This record gives sequence, C-alpha cells and structure tokens, in this order.
Amino acid sequence: MTKKPVIAIDGFSSTGKSSISKVIAKTLGLIHLDTGALYRGITFFALQNCLDENQKLDFKKLMQNLPIIKLEFQNVDGELQLFLNGQNINKEIRFPQVSDNVSQVAKEAEVRNFLLETQRNIAKQGGVIMDGRDIGTVVLPNADYKFFMTASPDERAKRRFVELQTAGEKTDIETVKQNLNTRDKIDSEREVSPLKQADDAILIDNTNLNKEQTINLIMSYII
Ligand code: DC
Repeated sequence: MTKKPVIAIDGFSSTGKSSISKVIAKTLGLIHLDTGALYRGITFFALQNCLDENQKLDFKKLMQNLPIIKLEFQNVDGELQLFLNGQNINKEIRFPQVSDNVSQVAKEAEVRNFLLETQRNIAKQGGVIMDGRDIGTVVLPNADYKFFMTASPDERAKRRFVELQTAGEKTDIETVKQNLNTRDKIDSEREVSPLKQADDAILIDNTNLNKEQTINLIMSYII
C-alpha cells in the first residue's frame, strides 16, 4: 500500500488496545492516537474545576467550560503525552479517581461532539492508528482496517491489576474487576456512540494470547 493506512482499534478496557497500537504505529510508521486519553483529560479537568457542593461532578458546569478546554498531544522523549491547557497531565489521567468517573463523562453527547473534530482532524492526512470505543463505528467509519478487541473479564482484570500494582497503586483484584465491569456496562449501554463491534471489524480475542502474539495476529491482516 503506497498511501499509509488508517487503522481503527476498538474494544473493551484492558485488552491492550493502546500498548498494541503503539507497537504497530512504530512498525508501520503511523501516528498513534489513544482516544481514551482525551476523555480522561476532560474528566481530569471536570474533577478539578466542575464539582458541586457535594463534591460530585457538575455536568452543566462542565458543558459551559468545554470551550476553554484545550487538549493536545506533544512529543515528550519520543512518546505522545497529553497536555491540558499547557499542563502535562499524562500521569494524572491514569489516577483511579479519573478511571472511576470517565465513563460518566464519555456518556455525554456534548463531550463526544467536542472531541469528534479533534479526532477526525488528526486522521485527515492518513497514516494513523486510533484506539478507542467508537472509532470504527463513528469517528472513522471509512478506516482501511478495523479491529475489535476482547478478552475474558477475568483475564482483563488480572492485566489491569498487575498494571496498577506496577504503577504503585494500592488496590485489590475485586475492586479492579468491579471498576472494569461498571465501565464496560456504561460504555456498551450508553445512547451515543456505544461500544460495539463495527459490522466490518475483525474480532480479536486475546484471552489466550500475549502481547506479541496479538500484534502478530493483527499485522497478519494488514497488507
Ligand atoms: O481506553 P480508556 O480506558 O483509557 O478509556 C477511558 C474511557 O473513555 C472509557 O471508559 C470509555 C471512554 N472512551 C469512549 O467512550 N470512546 C473512545 N473513543 C475512547 C474512550
């Protein structure tokens, strides 16, 4: 293929979408965009600036504030890191408080519309691999390749738990599993752009595959 491809990778949390997309991007010379980071960035902003008197998210306030949110990826030591209004928030967007609230924020149609153009603009020139939940169905329906990743809930919880432990977070496997289940449910059942496999996406179940095997399987479909 002479023109660089546009690749959409959707699927459930903790199936390795982002880390696998990163490797494929490097191999094929593509830009990698982790769209979940954008939703996390908005959630981080909301937790800092849009709480009501009960310390709960005030969605009305968030919508009013959307125009002043500027999210951009900058290259830091060869890795794209997320900046919110000039502040590097790459670490902060992985905090449990953000993970616990992000699905609620991602449910909002105004938030999704706000991020739609950002995502499509990045893909305009081609040569991109984008991972998320609605890339193949809504953001880039004409992508050259679409994949939908899944793995058993137990396996995904195990992976996430190890990831959090390595990052020094104190948690237990049951809490992690609960958080994943809740997010899957909200993501799959929301009205706007729910998490679902596009009709023309290739299903990748990596319950019994390691990272390298998953990459090889995906690469075997890319000409
Ligand atoms: O991939 P992740 O776990 O970082 O995503 C965080 C949340 O953002 C997830 O609960 C679903 C939401 N999300 C979405 O709704 N659409 C996307 N394209 C990417 C993420």
